[in-house]
Amino acid sequence: MKKFQSVRGMRDILPSESRAYRALENILISTVQQYGYEEIKTPILEDTNLFIKSIGNGTDIVDKEMYTFVDSKSKSFSMRPEGTASCVRAIIENGLQESINKLWYSGPFFRHERPQKGRYRQFHQFGIEFIGVKTHVADFEIINLANSIWKNIGISPQLKINNIGDPNDRKKYIEILKTYLNKYKSDFDDNEKNKLINNTLRILDSKNPKLKEIIESAPRIEDYISSESQKNFQKLLKLLNDENISYTRDYKLVRGLDYYNNLVFEYTDDTDVTQNTLCAGGRYDFLFKSMCDKEIPALGFAIGMERLLEHIDYKIESSDTVSFYMAILDEKYFSYSQKVSNIIRNISKKYNVSTSYNFSNLKAQLKKANKISANYCVIIGDEEVKNNECQIKDMALGSQKTVNIDELNKYLKPDKNLEYKENE
Ligand code: HAM
Repeated sequence: MKKFQSVRGMRDILPSESRAYRALENILISTVQQYGYEEIKTPILEDTNLFIKSIGNGTDIVDKEMYTFVDSKSKSFSMRPEGTASCVRAIIENGLQESINKLWYSGPFFRHERPQKGRYRQFHQFGIEFIGVKTHVADFEIINLANSIWKNIGISPQLKINNIGDPNDRKKYIEILKTYLNKYKSDFDDNEKNKLINNTLRILDSKNPKLKEIIESAPRIEDYISSESQKNFQKLLKLLNDENISYTRDYKLVRGLDYYNNLVFEYTDDTDVTQNTLCAGGRYDFLFKSMCDKEIPALGFAIGMERLLEHIDYKIESSDTVSFYMAILDEKYFSYSQKVSNIIRNISKKYNVSTSYNFSNLKAQLKKANKISANYCVIIGDEEVKNNECQIKDMALGSQKTVNIDELNKYLKPDKNLEYKENE
């Protein structure tokens, strides 16, 4: 019989991983909410032209990576490869462009890339878009927000930052860069030769060792950026310095999407692997104009959820929930155990109770409680039922206590930071 498999590059997120995913997402949501962001949910499918117009012809995403199909009415749709274009479309379509919008989103995105660790064809992003504020103050705020996220997770990825100027600055610079790179064309592979014509800037972040020195000595975009843009960027750097936010100025950082201007940044982990960008973003002050004829400043970033989870090795606990596992020593006590379960569930919405269906063997049931990382195992046997009690085993400490079920409320106080206190 044919065994079905998930599509290449698209993974199942099983409970062993989804627990960490949910815990991480909860931290991200609560942090961005502290900065005034609200959720937006946009469709997975969009008009293909939306992505061509925003991300740009000549970029890898548009040229090679989109999942595109034509429907029965001959209209071309694409599965969203990123979230910024959809947010801009939604703001314009719903007439929200006159006010400041702070939006977050979380969900799957699709790019037909060569799958490898940290790079999938269906992956998940958690992103924010901050629409309507032009100055370096907004630039600072989103970097500060990203740093709050890292602090709340307990990691410190490295911030790389660059100023790529506005589209006019960039046009001038691209011509100068092209002339320079043309001299070394014989060292380029086919892909790089193609980029030289269609997406010259991306040669700057080529990983080809042959090009390392050529790129190091290339003209820098910095020298072609207007003095006003440079001044703004210096103001941002000053704010970062004042707040002790460390960064590296990376003159080669250009990003793979066309819509950026001025500020671009990335957070990378400290490994040397290729897929080590955990989060990336920047300004896109000209994207609205290309879609609605009105200039509206905007900026944002997106975090790759899989990469971040791999970076922290899935070691993140939900601080919100406490899990109890009912170990029932005889099937005839099942109904008593359900009564106890409901008492525990009613003490706090954060208390999750699951049941063993393998009656009798306590050792096996404790093993299962351990396996599912239960905080507490509630043991119910002859003595407990006779005396209207249960035993509560703290799985981390290994300690165990007999508690009358009418007093569970007192012992499992939710306001005491979840814990059942051994000495009370
Ligand atoms: P991006 O750099 O294309 O930017 O993607 C952001 C992050 O998504 C990457 O840094 C990476 O962590 C993750 N990511 C991208 N592709 C994959 C993949 N194939 N597999 C796993 N993870 C991946 C954007 O998408 C912009 N929309 C970010 C933004 C928001 N800029 C302004 N606002």
